[in-house]
Amino acid sequence: MSKAPLAPYPALRPRRLRQADWIRRLVRETTLQPSDLIWSLVVHDGAQARIPVASMPDVDRLSVAEAAKAAVQARALGIPAIAVFPYIDGEKKDARGSMASDPDGLIARAVKAMKNAAPEVGIMCDVALDPFTDHGHDGLLENGRILNDPTIERLVEQGLMQARAGADILAPSDMMDGRVGALRAALEGAGLQDVMIMAYAAKYASAFYGPYREAIGSAKALHGDKRSYQMDPANTDEALREVALDIAEGADMVMVKPGMPYLDIVRRVVEAFSMPTFAYQVSGEYAMLMAAGRNGWLDEERAILEALTAFKRAGCAGVITYFAPRAAKLLGA
Ligand code: PBG
Repeated sequence: MSKAPLAPYPALRPRRLRQADWIRRLVRETTLQPSDLIWSLVVHDGAQARIPVASMPDVDRLSVAEAAKAAVQARALGIPAIAVFPYIDGEKKDARGSMASDPDGLIARAVKAMKNAAPEVGIMCDVALDPFTDHGHDGLLENGRILNDPTIERLVEQGLMQARAGADILAPSDMMDGRVGALRAALEGAGLQDVMIMAYAAKYASAFYGPYREAIGSAKALHGDKRSYQMDPANTDEALREVALDIAEGADMVMVKPGMPYLDIVRRVVEAFSMPTFAYQVSGEYAMLMAAGRNGWLDEERAILEALTAFKRAGCAGVITYFAPRAAKLLGA
């Protein structure tokens, strides 16, 4: 902010700069582009090309073949990266989340198919056990408690598998203490030093993840809640400590999640660390906008672009969003 004294009205009439589109464009402080978007999508293991997700209109679970087409579409739209999440059949889940590190599993096949179809598109994988555990938690559960360090061993197995399958970015979303450092060391040890880490650094225990848990099929499985590892929505200094730790442990980029209700956290993180900072516009944010739009309660397209622009204005380098392909098209890609 300039410290120059403001001329008083009528010398300064701020509306002068708003009188026509050309001048509004000229003085605009923030721009939203397809290159700001990471496309969040869900894959499933069946033959059916697309399976709708009831609570997320226009979001489908994609078959592996369809995910490859999505990667080609992302490239055409100028979307730099895709974040991929798996829907796992109930009978393939167990307490340890064994399938999470399966080198022939759904995620490995989806990553390979997408990298084959469009190698120019970055692929990001979630490192967490929840899609794969029969209790729906991100970590290992013993007598109702989530075990931190044994979970990290599983996350490292999962992350190495993802990196070997061709993932460009590992995104640990589990909120265990110390997992970023363990993943970074394991990648270095395996000769995978170029694989990036985007840490879900400040991830809150949020009601806004509801539709995602339906999309990946963990809603029914989840026992209890995630408050012993995800952050208390009332906290902000704690977010800075979490981000500081993840950066010190080797995160290349950090993330705040959910998005729109947490833009104050984004701003603080950007100001404190000057690291590439992303926000996740989560499933519940998507569902809210779509529900209101579908009811005619707000202008859906304008609301989508306004919400995404707000992330940029808050200081985000980019946004992980289910709206990515639609927003890219709205932006004229
Ligand atoms: C789980 C994970 C979640 C999301 C991404 N990874 C949900 C959770 O923590 O329960 C949420 C995504 C969304 O709501 O769109 N590790």
